[in-house]
Amino acid sequence: MLSNILKIYRFSSYYIYTYYFVSFYNIFLILQCEGAAHEDGRGPSIWDTFSEKFPEKIMDGSNGSIADDSYNLYKEDMNFLHQFGFDAYRFLISWSRILPCGDLKGGINQAGIDYYNNLINHILSKGVKPYVTIFHWDLPEALQHTYGGFLGAEIVNDFRDYAELCFQKFGDRVKHWTTLNEPFSVVHNGFTTGQDAPGRCSSFTNPNCTGGDGAREPYIVGHNFLLAHGAAVKIYRKSTRYAIQKGEIGIALNTVWHYPYSDSYADKLAAARATAFTFDYFLEPIVYGKYPTEMVNHVKDGRLPTFTPEESSMLKGSYDFIGINYYSSSYVKDVPCATENITMSTDACVSIVGERNGVPLGPTAGSDWLLIYPEGIRDLLLHVKFKFDDPVLYITENGVDEASIGEIFLNDDLRIDYYAHHLKMVRDAILMGVNVQGYFAWSLMDNFEWAEGYTVRFGLVFVDFEDGRKRYPKKSAKWFRKLLKREYNGTRQKVAVI
Ligand SMILES: *[C@@H]1O[C@H](CO)[C@@H](O)[C@H](O)[C@H]1NC(C)=O
Ligand SMILES: *[C@@H]1O[C@H](CO)[C@@H](O)[C@H](O)[C@H]1NC(C)=O
Ligand SMILES: *[C@@H]1O[C@H](CO)[C@@H](O)[C@H](O)[C@H]1NC(C)=O
Ligand SMILES: *[C@@H]1O[C@H](CO)[C@@H](O)[C@H](O)[C@H]1NC(C)=O
Repeated sequence: MLSNILKIYRFSSYYIYTYYFVSFYNIFLILQCEGAAHEDGRGPSIWDTFSEKFPEKIMDGSNGSIADDSYNLYKEDMNFLHQFGFDAYRFLISWSRILPCGDLKGGINQAGIDYYNNLINHILSKGVKPYVTIFHWDLPEALQHTYGGFLGAEIVNDFRDYAELCFQKFGDRVKHWTTLNEPFSVVHNGFTTGQDAPGRCSSFTNPNCTGGDGAREPYIVGHNFLLAHGAAVKIYRKSTRYAIQKGEIGIALNTVWHYPYSDSYADKLAAARATAFTFDYFLEPIVYGKYPTEMVNHVKDGRLPTFTPEESSMLKGSYDFIGINYYSSSYVKDVPCATENITMSTDACVSIVGERNGVPLGPTAGSDWLLIYPEGIRDLLLHVKFKFDDPVLYITENGVDEASIGEIFLNDDLRIDYYAHHLKMVRDAILMGVNVQGYFAWSLMDNFEWAEGYTVRFGLVFVDFEDGRKRYPKKSAKWFRKLLKREYNGTRQKVAVI
């Protein structure tokens, strides 16, 4: 697989680049920027509980209860988006804002429905397309409390009902739906390492976790995520809206791209295995109706759930597009499989590292996990094209952060460089035939970065969390503006925004 990709890539140098990129979108989202966690009848989510009950688990002890206060300031934010020339806005519906208890019998919060109606209408009035994500980690606390959230089989129907409510209330205007954002992050950070809500892991991984079993729970959660996605897509496709409005529905998946640590066959297989356990994990079931062979072979003792034939056929083809969230790459080494203290992280029998012989794969950004390596996005896109039947793709997240330095910082040349190089790599992938339909930068504004709190900043717009959440466009926002207004010459290419 990998050598195929490298061979194909070699041809790319023969292309003469005549255009820069397809179309440009921007992103931003709910708990992370919306705030207003306890206003207007919203129920608590697991991220409210996690950050408010255990501030020591958030790097700066903060929470997302106000965040960017976009709940109140969305008009100002949409003005920025529009000014910079973006033509789509990707945002999240906060489940507990419209269903405070998570399910229909707990009642619908009309104020929440009104809020998203106002937001959607405002976006459309600016000529910007709404791209709506139905689930981005902020599960209603009530469902976590009642049956363990995604650990419980009940979640599948509750998620389906919630998704159907979204289609009913907003589907006349929203044509682009994403069921789940980064299910792997939740499985890994929420149930294997415990660093994210709901903070579960095996006690040998971290005694501070509030219960958990990193060998079993991640796979149960992953399985229920897949079934919930399938059930939501099924109900969407059944609705007449789907046919009448030509809406589309998909899922947003993430991975770092994995390169073999050495040329050895064992390390090449290890790199493929690492990708199987992070990314193919969710894509293979929805494209081919089954888990990756690497997982089937490596997850012992019956810990990997299986799909019934009905589930498998429900999942197969349950997407109109696949969203790709890419930030960073790593090297992968083959290591002996663990026999003790087993978790989902040990099952792949790999070691994932950022450097080789003391040389890092790329420069580090604000977060220490983010090694900058633009080629990774191209190689991930090629992997999806060739292994998964050439789906329609969106880049649903791509971006870089800087550490917060306690003062207003707007000269983000690093971010400009990051976007320029990653966009070039996406363009290369397109020239090689990958069907990329759009690109969302992460993120419009600095926001609450989960367990990293406000210590890192991913925005094109600086937000002063110390001073009334005032907004200041960074240099990168101006760069995007030029690019999108076609005033940017770049190095060898003309700009064409289709
Ligand atoms: C959450 O953060 C806000 C400031 O953003 C703070 O006023 C509040 O006390 C925090 N809540 C808890 C429970 O720590
Ligand atoms: C397994 O975890 C226990 C508890 O943290 C630790 O004492 C032990 O060394 C670990 N074993 C291995 C092989 O890592
Ligand atoms: C567990 O929590 C305590 C108290 O907050 C902290 O000092 C310790 O570092 C934590 N342990 C781990 C492994 O995170
Ligand atoms: C693009 O090129 C033109 C002519 O070659 C030049 O006048 C202009 O300043 C350049 N614009 C940018 C943004 O570099």
